[in-house]
Amino acid sequence: MSLRAFVEVQDVTKVFEDPKRGSVEALRGVSFSCFSGRIFGLLGPNGAGKTTLLRILATTLSPTTGSVSIDGVVVSTDPARARRSMGFLSGVAGLYERSTARELVSFFGELHGMDRSAITARVDELSRLLGMESFLDMPCGKLSDGQRQKVRLARVLVHDPPVLVLDEATATLDILVADEVMRFIEAERARGKCIIFSTHVMGEVERLCDDVAVIHKGRVLFLGTKDELAQGGRVADAFMQLVRGASDASSPGAAS
Ligand SMILES: Nc1ncnc2c1ncn2[C@@H]1O[C@H](COP(=O)(O)OP(=O)(O)OP(=O)(O)O)[C@@H](O)[C@H]1O
Ligand SMILES: [Mg+2]
Repeated sequence: MSLRAFVEVQDVTKVFEDPKRGSVEALRGVSFSCFSGRIFGLLGPNGAGKTTLLRILATTLSPTTGSVSIDGVVVSTDPARARRSMGFLSGVAGLYERSTARELVSFFGELHGMDRSAITARVDELSRLLGMESFLDMPCGKLSDGQRQKVRLARVLVHDPPVLVLDEATATLDILVADEVMRFIEAERARGKCIIFSTHVMGEVERLCDDVAVIHKGRVLFLGTKDELAQGGRVADAFMQLVRGASDASSPGAAS
């Protein structure tokens, strides 16, 4: 299989002006490439900058400096096209409580300009792939957290985009539903999708990731394949060693 850099992040920085904390450097010179048919995992402790980076990829936030391109097109020059190329799942998205899952996912298909027959076919396909048949015609307000998360996933992927950007997609799910979502992600990789996700679950990284970036305080500490990170050991150990080493180095008492 030939590798093609589909998403490229170049020297991205993000500074938030916070009324209480002043300037917050959430990202400092972040660069990496993600490939079609591969899963890229973004790892980092709380506050590392993962959500900020994923929101910049998804065009809901602009970088302070630097750029992101998708399939060779710089996102800031054509954000609408970038959004068509991408499905972005962030944990906080709400659902219309009175709409059924089918209505909601179909409505997003309409927003993407899909015709009726394409929407029907895609909703059926996503329902089968994500195991949504039993609740597809129930109002979202009556769904469990796991069912709601499947609806969110179906909603952002209804247009079958080549890039999936998932921010802690399994964080609230039980082990069985998380497994279903991971199988779905694996199937999407097999279909050639470029998948970028953040997680705190190292088992997910072991299972899913081909490539990994470890970020800490907005900087990339490691960029490479999962196997290069783990070096024959556990991803969790390699991750902790990197992050603890960086924290020690930046602590006030550390030699400069
Ligand atoms: N809108 C904002 N205004 C000010 N600071 C922000 C804003 N959004 C994020 N930050 C800050 O940017 C930094 C990175 O936050 P971010 O949410 O990207 O981290 P994260 O890696 O996703 O963390 P977590 O694992 O907890 O989800 C943090 O210091 C956070 O407080
Ligand atoms: Mg986050």
